This record gives sequence, C-alpha cells and structure tokens, in this order.
Amino acid sequence: MKKYKVGVIGATGMVGQRFVTLIANHPWFELTEVAASARSAGKPYEEAVAGRWLMQTPVPDCAKKLVVKCAETDIDAIAGNVDFVFSAVDMKKEEIKALEEAYAKRECPVVSNNSAHRWTPDVPMVVPEINPEHLEVIPSQRKRLGTRRGFIAVKSNCSLQSYVPALHPLKDEFGLTKALVCTYQAISGAGKTFETFPDIVDNVIPFIGGEEEKSEQEPLKLWGRVENGQIVKAESPSITAQCFRVACSDGHMAAVFASFAKKPTVEEIKERWSSFSALPQKLQLPSAPRQFLHYFEEENRPQTKLDRNLENGMAVSVGRLREDTQYDYKFVCLSHNTLRGAAGGAILLAELLCAQGYMD
Ligand SMILES: NC(=O)c1ccc[n+]([C@@H]2O[C@H](COP(=O)([O-])OP(=O)(O)OC[C@H]3O[C@@H](n4cnc5c(N)ncnc54)[C@H](OP(=O)(O)O)[C@@H]3O)[C@@H](O)[C@H]2O)c1
Repeated sequence: MKKYKVGVIGATGMVGQRFVTLIANHPWFELTEVAASARSAGKPYEEAVAGRWLMQTPVPDCAKKLVVKCAETDIDAIAGNVDFVFSAVDMKKEEIKALEEAYAKRECPVVSNNSAHRWTPDVPMVVPEINPEHLEVIPSQRKRLGTRRGFIAVKSNCSLQSYVPALHPLKDEFGLTKALVCTYQAISGAGKTFETFPDIVDNVIPFIGGEEEKSEQEPLKLWGRVENGQIVKAESPSITAQCFRVACSDGHMAAVFASFAKKPTVEEIKERWSSFSALPQKLQLPSAPRQFLHYFEEENRPQTKLDRNLENGMAVSVGRLREDTQYDYKFVCLSHNTLRGAAGGAILLAELLCAQGYMD
C-alpha cells in the first residue's frame, strides 16, 4: 500500500490532537500538514499546542516541527501538499460547510468529524461496518461540486456509535420497529477535561445541546438507501433518546430498549452479535477491530472505565441483554467517543476510502 500524505484541519483541538496521534502511528498515512485558526498559524505545532496537549502520549515527533497553517487562508498550499485532509475545526456550521467545500473544490478530499455536512444528501455519512455502500454517492457529489477527485465524506455523531452497531445486525432479520435509548456521555465529547469542566465533578447534567435530535435522526440516514446519487433516509425504526453528560473522561454508554416485528430469542441475538463481521474486517483495514461487537456475560459489564479501550477503542461493548416488560429487550452498549466515535471512526472511514480507490 502506498503512503498517503495527510493533513489535519483543526489539528490543535482535542479531536485534532487525536487525529495527529493516530496518524503518527499509521501504516498508510503520513502527516504532512497541520492547520488551525489564525491564532495558531505560523507556529511550530509543538508550540501551538503547548499547555493544551490533552493526549496520554507526548506530541508525536513527526508533528512537532510542522508549521501550523491557517485552515481558512492557506487552502491552496495545504491542498497542494496532501492526498486528503481530516477536518476537526470548531466553527459555525455554515462556515464549516463552506470551508470543507473549499477543500473539496481544490481537489482535496475531506473526511470530516463535523456535523455540518451530515444532512447534505450527496455527502455519505458512513460507519464502515454499517453502510459502506453509501460511498456510491461520491460520483454525484463530485458532479455537483465540479470536481475530478475532491469530495466530502463524514462520520456520524459519537452518541449513536454504541447502540446503532448493536441494533444493526438485528434490524432487518427481526424487523426492528422501535428503540428507546438513554445515553451517558463522557466530558471529552464536549472537548472538556475534569480540569476545564469542574461543574461536572459529582454531577450529571441532563442536557447536551442538539444531541437527542442527532441520536434519533442520524441512524435513519445510516440505514437509508442510495437513490439517484443521493441518500434517502429510512422511515423506520422510530427512535427516542435522552442524552446525559456524566462525570467520565472518555466513553459513551447507552441503555437501550428495543422491539421487533418478529421477536428473536436471547440466543439468536447473542449469535448475531458474535458472528457480525463486515467489510472493514474482510478488507483487514488497519484500524478495524477484529471483533466489532463484544458481548459481556458478567452482569456488571460493560463499564466505561474498564471497557472503553477494547480493541484500541474501536470495538463496541454490549451487555445485560434481558427481556423487558414494555419493549421486547433491553441491554447496555459502550463505545469510546473520541476513538471510534470521533477521530478513530474517521480514520477507519479514510482507510475504507483508500482501499476502494476514492483517494487515488
Ligand atoms: N470532542 C469530541 O469528542 C467530538 C466528537 C464529535 C465531534 N466533535 C466536533 O469536532 C469539532 C472539533 O471539536 P474539538 O473538541 O476538537 O474542538 P476544540 O478542541 O475546540 O478545537 C477546535 C479546533 O478548531 C480550530 N478553529 C477554531 N476556529 C477556527 C477558524 N476560524 N479557522 C480555522 N480553525 C479554527 C481551533 O484552532 P485554534 O487552536 O487555533 O483555535 C482548533 O484546532 C467540533 O465541531 C466538535 O463539535 C467533537
């Protein structure tokens, strides 16, 4: 596999730092550009993140001396020196939309962690194990943008990254009709640590702006179909969600209740979870977990602190499957929000795009 030259826009932020760290150790990707706001531009990366480096490992050597460019004004220079970029900027939605399109129009594909383009009908929003076929809309998007190779692909919100994978292998065979989810989301999802978010210590906050709508609606785009070069969202299942911020550093947990047209047995559900394997596993993509869904028989698992790093934070942990009095079943799911739910999920998507020739 050839090495792809990669840039990160928003490289100084929490998600950007995760991208930089993952790319530094990546067998296919080589970090050649880092970009952020004008506040950071012109400084060596090491200096730009001094005093706000949030990763457990030090700033990677390959990133230290790279001079941070301005993501908004140095687009030509960045696009000319990379095969594609990851986007993790924190700006207004309309600004992010315009910025990502500007890179795509410079023939620089964008793999984005941001929500700005998630509902653009010809932008694929992909969890590689769930809807890799949605990449088929890229030629139509290129046509709209007037590009030869530039396009935008996005990942979905971190909140649903635990429960959608667990529901997916059951959905069609057993006719998933409705699901109720309550999520217990870590503070890194708000770009925070315990030092920068003292109000969360000894606390639960029952509101995360916009998160419940995303948790209810984005699964329907993931489960949608490709029609005339666009994604048409699925009409069912009906999903209702409540999202809480809890005092955990990393790891989003979800309590899930689900009903089916054809109620499966407990054994059937566990079998579908343990045997679920998809395109990333088949292609042996470098960041793909060997086993995507891990079921824990212990009644007090999964636990956020114990299980979030399973398979380098790219697997989903499931447990406590049992019958419910109002829905058919209830169970618990967990995924790492800044790995599988953010930078890691975007890196896996980029690997899939490379493996399928979209980055050539
Ligand atoms: N944290 C998570 O787990 C998570 C999960 C899913 C999605 N997201 C989304 O991912 C994005 C990044 O989140 P984050 O937590 O990493 O945010 P963050 O720590 O605040 O970092 C924001 C980044 O955007 C850059 N930036 C801000 N304004 C800019 C501008 N006008 N032009 C160019 N770059 C600009 C910042 O550069 P400077 O350092 O120069 O200011 C920084 O690199 C957000 O849209 C967020 O909603 C986050």
